[in-house]
Amino acid sequence: MLFKLSSALLLASSLAVATPTPSTPFAEDVYLEDPHVLFSRQAGAVRPNATIDISPAFPTDIGYSGTIKYGAAPFLAQNNRLNSTKPNLGAATKADEYTPANSKGSDFNMARYWGNTSPWFPSPLFSEAQKNRQLDPTCKITNVHILHRHGARYPTSYSTEGAPYFGVLATNASTAAATGGAAFTNTGPLAFLSNYTYQLGAEILTPVGAQQVFDSGIKAYYSYGSLYNSTAGGNGTAPRKPVIRTTSQERMLDSARYWTAGFFGLDAPSLIDLLVILEGDGFNNTLASYDTCNNSNVGALAVGDTYLTPQWEATYLKGTVERLQQYTSLNLTTEMVYGMQSLCAYETNALGYSPFCELFTEDEWRGFEYFLDLQFQGDYGSMSPSGRAQGIGYVQEFLARLTNGTIPADQITTQNSTLLTPEYFPTDQPMYVDFTHDDIILSVLVALNYTHVVGEYLSATTMDDNRTFVLSHITPFAARLIFEVAECGSTEGGNSTQIIRTILNDALIPMNEAQGCTPRSDGSCLLSEFVQFQQATAYKAANFDFACFGNYTLTGPTVTNGTIA
Ligand SMILES: *[C@@H]1O[C@H](CO)[C@@H](O)[C@H](O)[C@H]1NC(C)=O
Ligand SMILES: *[C@@H]1O[C@H](CO)[C@@H](O)[C@H](O)[C@H]1NC(C)=O
Ligand SMILES: *[C@@H]1O[C@H](CO)[C@@H](O)[C@H](O)[C@H]1NC(C)=O
Ligand SMILES: *[C@@H]1O[C@H](CO)[C@@H](O)[C@H](O)[C@H]1NC(C)=O
Ligand SMILES: *[C@@H]1O[C@H](CO)[C@@H](O)[C@H](O)[C@H]1NC(C)=O
Ligand SMILES: *[C@@H]1O[C@H](CO)[C@@H](O)[C@H](O)[C@H]1NC(C)=O
Ligand SMILES: *[C@@H]1O[C@H](CO)[C@@H](O)[C@H](O)[C@H]1NC(C)=O
Ligand SMILES: *[C@@H]1O[C@H](CO)[C@@H](O)[C@H](O)[C@H]1NC(C)=O
Ligand SMILES: *[C@@H]1O[C@H](CO)[C@@H](O)[C@H](O)[C@H]1NC(C)=O
Ligand SMILES: *[C@@H]1O[C@H](CO)[C@@H](O)[C@H](O)[C@H]1NC(C)=O
Ligand SMILES: *[C@@H]1O[C@H](CO)[C@@H](O)[C@H](O)[C@H]1NC(C)=O
Ligand SMILES: *[C@@H]1O[C@H](CO)[C@@H](O)[C@H](O)[C@H]1NC(C)=O
Repeated sequence: MLFKLSSALLLASSLAVATPTPSTPFAEDVYLEDPHVLFSRQAGAVRPNATIDISPAFPTDIGYSGTIKYGAAPFLAQNNRLNSTKPNLGAATKADEYTPANSKGSDFNMARYWGNTSPWFPSPLFSEAQKNRQLDPTCKITNVHILHRHGARYPTSYSTEGAPYFGVLATNASTAAATGGAAFTNTGPLAFLSNYTYQLGAEILTPVGAQQVFDSGIKAYYSYGSLYNSTAGGNGTAPRKPVIRTTSQERMLDSARYWTAGFFGLDAPSLIDLLVILEGDGFNNTLASYDTCNNSNVGALAVGDTYLTPQWEATYLKGTVERLQQYTSLNLTTEMVYGMQSLCAYETNALGYSPFCELFTEDEWRGFEYFLDLQFQGDYGSMSPSGRAQGIGYVQEFLARLTNGTIPADQITTQNSTLLTPEYFPTDQPMYVDFTHDDIILSVLVALNYTHVVGEYLSATTMDDNRTFVLSHITPFAARLIFEVAECGSTEGGNSTQIIRTILNDALIPMNEAQGCTPRSDGSCLLSEFVQFQQATAYKAANFDFACFGNYTLTGPTVTNGTIA
């Protein structure tokens, strides 16, 4: 049976099965014998009828999806209360359209102060270095390493986290009032609270999160599509499909699926081998290293949560509690007000709009960002005793890939050694893509000693407006840390050099001595220098066994170099 498809629908051909077949075809129409074949966007890609086995090499339904809690469906056409004239450039949500409280008409974009809950945007880090963003024309990129965060998600399932904490509290208060309990009166900018219902799910991707990773896959295809083709090209023999890795958590698997749909097309599952690595208590997984590194889960060793954020919250929200208290019968605390700020970010990402956003001033948003900066720097960064240890697993894998080498059995950290075989862990691919979490991207930068990006000591009481460590510039939703390896100069004369460049959320990060590099004017590093230095220092400096399993205590925010002796 022939199925008729317009050429514009080739990629989506499987969706067209139910379309009735007209009896008279048009001349420009294309006929497919098999409606289930999804055509690749790319010549040379491994096709479904190529000589290799097209079935996925690794199973993707391996359980350990984590908590899955769906939220309410958005209804922005109904619920949007934003009377904004700011252009939204076709965006699905209102993230870029809010105006802060007491604004004097500046173009302050609060969504860029939401730390790790900011929707992805290009990082403004090292703006003066961006003139070197273009690759020297004598260089040819030979391989690329992408470490990618999942897209926007719902809050986690911890009910003590700011957004669910206040969301549930306000919902309970309004429900109690409506059923004859204690009165719950709200006026002015908080009037909406009287009828408020918390509608968010937990843990899984939001729709705009899916969009972020899909867009990123497409963007990566424009940047690196040709590298994939060199995998798929070859000598007429069956090429190896690229192994792409993610974890078993639902938002991680979904992010890998949306990203690869963007990069490869809808036939991605037949073009790659997606390795889903178990994430959950007791599993080793470099992309979720907290499952292995026990001390990273000990509250008293979480410097951010224990020593930094409580103090900062009490400082930056003191005046805000006083300002908002006049509008509600709830006795507000700084925890509640922090929860309202967090709800702004999560509700916008999940529902498109949040009534909490415009309650806060520019300075309150700067304070919110800094709260998250402190939390991450203290729990996973340079102020954490296990900051390097939490990132070292991926770093060891990265070095193995750069050298086509192996990880010595006596240096296993957070890897699952079962998955270090050539089948699961090839080291000769032109393109590597690994999906992970915000904290891992930070810890990897710490383990590689990018001190000029993530090395600052942050004070729990005073915010430095000029600091470099701004979490939304490092790991917003759908963050991506990319390393490009290139061969420059003439290969014939034996004069070629291999270089490596670091690109974080589109910003070229100039490399320096702290990563082992003799600084070069274009921000790149000689690959040999980088590799030698990192091989000699990174594993040792992480002090993995002691940092993760040792018996030690802290008396305050005393760690400055991401490890503990
Ligand atoms: C991909 O590689 C094949 C085989 O080398 C080549 O014929 C084809 O033109 C390439 N496609 C692209 C888009 O570069
Ligand atoms: C499938 O294989 C046949 C015969 O080798 C070839 O003519 C055809 O172009 C291939 N189709 C696709 C979709 O690759
Ligand atoms: C929206 O703003 C415009 C002015 O920009 C005003 O005329 C209009 O009344 C506002 N609408 C609502 C519902 O507040
Ligand atoms: C909001 O709640 C108040 C007090 O419970 C009630 O009087 C009012 O009708 C509600 N408004 C809406 C739009 O539901
Ligand atoms: C093709 O095969 C030849 C001989 O085995 C080898 O020298 C060459 O490098 C191969 N080319 C590619 C692109 O794999
Ligand atoms: C290692 O991976 C294998 C295969 O997924 C799994 O069966 C095993 O439980 C994992 N072990 C650890 C410690 O993660
Ligand atoms: C709020 O605080 C006031 C004064 O401290 C107290 O009288 C009142 O009971 C408190 N209300 C609630 C709901 O906790
Ligand atoms: C990588 O190492 C493997 C195993 O040692 C070897 O077979 C392969 O040829 C190497 N590949 C490259 C590109 O050096
Ligand atoms: C998991 O990690 C621990 C800690 O590094 C290590 O002792 C163990 O051998 C690893 N397990 C596997 C299967 O690699
Ligand atoms: C921040 O940088 C600006 C411009 O370099 C400078 O004028 C200002 O004093 C700096 N502020 C602080 C707190 O260091
Ligand atoms: C390689 O470098 C040497 C020494 O710098 C130089 O003399 C020679 O011309 C170079 N060869 C090529 C092909 O660039
Ligand atoms: C990291 O960089 C700092 C300089 O910023 C240097 O003093 C330190 O020795 C480096 N540590 C490692 C482990 O590379």
